[in-house]
Amino acid sequence: MDQIRIVEVSPRDGLQNEKTPIPTDTKLSLIQALLAAGLTEIEVSSFVSPKWVPQLGDVSELWPLLPPGGLFSALVPNERGFENAQSLGVDRIAVFTAASDAFTQRNINMTVAESLAGFRDIFGQHRGFKRAYVSTVFECPYAGRVEPQMVVDVVEPLLAMGADEISLGDTIGVGTPNEVQALHVALQHLPQDKIVWHFHDTRGTAIANVSKAIELGYRSFDSSAGGLGGCPYAKGAGGNLATEDLVYFAHRQGLSTGVDLAVLSQATLPIFELLGRAPSAKAQLAVLAE
Ligand code: HMG
Ligand code: MG
Repeated sequence: MDQIRIVEVSPRDGLQNEKTPIPTDTKLSLIQALLAAGLTEIEVSSFVSPKWVPQLGDVSELWPLLPPGGLFSALVPNERGFENAQSLGVDRIAVFTAASDAFTQRNINMTVAESLAGFRDIFGQHRGFKRAYVSTVFECPYAGRVEPQMVVDVVEPLLAMGADEISLGDTIGVGTPNEVQALHVALQHLPQDKIVWHFHDTRGTAIANVSKAIELGYRSFDSSAGGLGGCPYAKGAGGNLATEDLVYFAHRQGLSTGVDLAVLSQATLPIFELLGRAPSAKAQLAVLAE
């Protein structure tokens, strides 16, 4: 059966914007539950400033506790973050920039060009897996619409400097299938198997975008269990595409994911309890109601 690859980002993208401190043990339990549901590629945290993202300030405590059986990754914004990651033996790193300078400046305090120069040095030293995120691929919350060529202008150098894959982020969840199509056309000269789509579901368009991307031949997607998520530096960034919605959609479309939807639907319940709110991912709610 045709296989969809899921990179689960709830421990990182899902939690980074939450103000309630989540204990390291609870994060670890979430990661264990995600593994038990069949997710193997999990982005667990970020090597960023704890002043900027306090929720993920425990990455150095969390990393050594990770159980066997997963391919774990973490965000790395700069040389300092890379050194911290290296000291813990992190094999899979994800650097992150954007198609727009305005967002990159607010997110990592650099221009896009400065970020690329830093990543070139980091990639030159890193022997493990190298992911690069490009955010705001359809629209920037500060600078407005983003043309596909602006994305290409960032993706090309990232691939040239050795990125193993590029994750294209609709950071504020504005995109529609026509925009996925337009970006696909602009990226057609680049290797399709190195592209991952990272949709936020702020306006309920994420699954429509997944559907279009699958139709265009893409098979890799980032998603977050329970639809947890949002970026603190993107005004109006809602939850990520819920992994439950992605898994339901893929299975019903005849595609495999290796994920058990019933088990997955339970995975985030302790987190929601801690956050004091109910889950809202549609496919998760449907399973919980059965
Ligand atoms: P800076 O330019 O050094 O800023 O930070 P600063 O001068 O305010 O420094 C803050 C403090 O952090 C300083 O310490 C630095 O030394 C230190 P102090 O001297 O005040 O004691 N510092 C660090 N500490 C730990 N780890 C580091 C590090 N670097 C400096 N790596 C930095 C630059 C990038 C660190 C900062 O801007 C930052 O942490 N930003 C947060 C970025 C972030 O995590 N954003 C959210 C993730 S991106 C996202 O969500 C989008 C995505 O999901 C895709 C999509 O949806 O599109 C990936
Ligand atoms: Mg995101």
